[in-house]
Amino acid sequence: MKEKLEQIRQAAVAELAAPEADLEALRIRFLGKKGELTAVLRGMGGLTAEERPVIGALANEVREYIEKAIAEKAEAQKTAALAKKLLDERLDVTMPGKAPAVGKRHPLAQVQKDMEDIFIGMGFSIVEGPEVEYDYYNFQALNIPENHPARDTQDTFYITDNILLRSQTSPVQVRTMEKQRPPIRIISPGRVYRSDAVDASHSPLFHQLEGLVVDKGITMGDLKGTLETFAKTMFGEQTQIRFRPHHFPFTEPSAEVDVSCFVCGGKGCKLCKGEGWIEILGAGMVHPNVLRGCNIDPDEYSGFAFGMGVERITMIKYGIDDMRYLYENDVRFLDQF
Ligand code: DAH
Repeated sequence: MKEKLEQIRQAAVAELAAPEADLEALRIRFLGKKGELTAVLRGMGGLTAEERPVIGALANEVREYIEKAIAEKAEAQKTAALAKKLLDERLDVTMPGKAPAVGKRHPLAQVQKDMEDIFIGMGFSIVEGPEVEYDYYNFQALNIPENHPARDTQDTFYITDNILLRSQTSPVQVRTMEKQRPPIRIISPGRVYRSDAVDASHSPLFHQLEGLVVDKGITMGDLKGTLETFAKTMFGEQTQIRFRPHHFPFTEPSAEVDVSCFVCGGKGCKLCKGEGWIEILGAGMVHPNVLRGCNIDPDEYSGFAFGMGVERITMIKYGIDDMRYLYENDVRFLDQF
């Protein structure tokens, strides 16, 4: 029996030598209730009274020996696993990092912000108005009564006969003058809508920026100075502006305003289509009917107003020849700005 116990000890030692030894399986095999050691102890009934304590003591010693060997092996396996994990997960902290892709403003948002900053610098404040608007504010209060031909060029989307998606930012002029007494000096950027099919220069949704100044003694000279400052800041110090007579129902007199081409300086090129000048906006002196409709006395106060397309300014500034690029959101395009 002694030999048998020694054999068990040797077998356990041999099995535990393998680095990947399955310790739980070995514990069950050698020390478990149905294990090899228990089997030997069961056979002790056939021993003499002298042999029994000797074999019993040896069996206990072998049990403790194997238990200790398993515990030591468990500790060794744990240490080895940790060492392997550290090796596998080793980081080279000196390696250059991957720069996270940082987003940026869309060119339209950027240009709108640039425009706002220029006017804020001249003392204007920003006022926003609703995109879903009453016919009254979008047309009637701007001196465009029902059936006025000016409505044709600004056909939009109607929600009811009286409620529509605004076709211009000019209704914010009226909403502001109804609420605020002069002096008024505001700009109003925002989305506008028209029932236009999409092409290189049209979209049913686009953006405008409106301006309005009302006070005592405001003249066309103030309008000109304001727009000249805007044009020079936006397109460069050498930029000139030019007023051409035009008609808008809500201003009198009205003008379309051009800037000298900042690419060719006026000689004529692709951007200005050989003209030397590029149209950028509509403007004029606020019509007395519009002032009167807002309870502002046109004999006491005068004002100027202007409105421009943010898409248009963006396209001119960056030489973009198709408006659709601005809405497709292809990052290869957007990344250039
Ligand atoms: N609202 C006009 C348009 O959409 C642009 C405009 C022209 C605005 C003259 C004005 C202005 O305030 O005075 O075509």
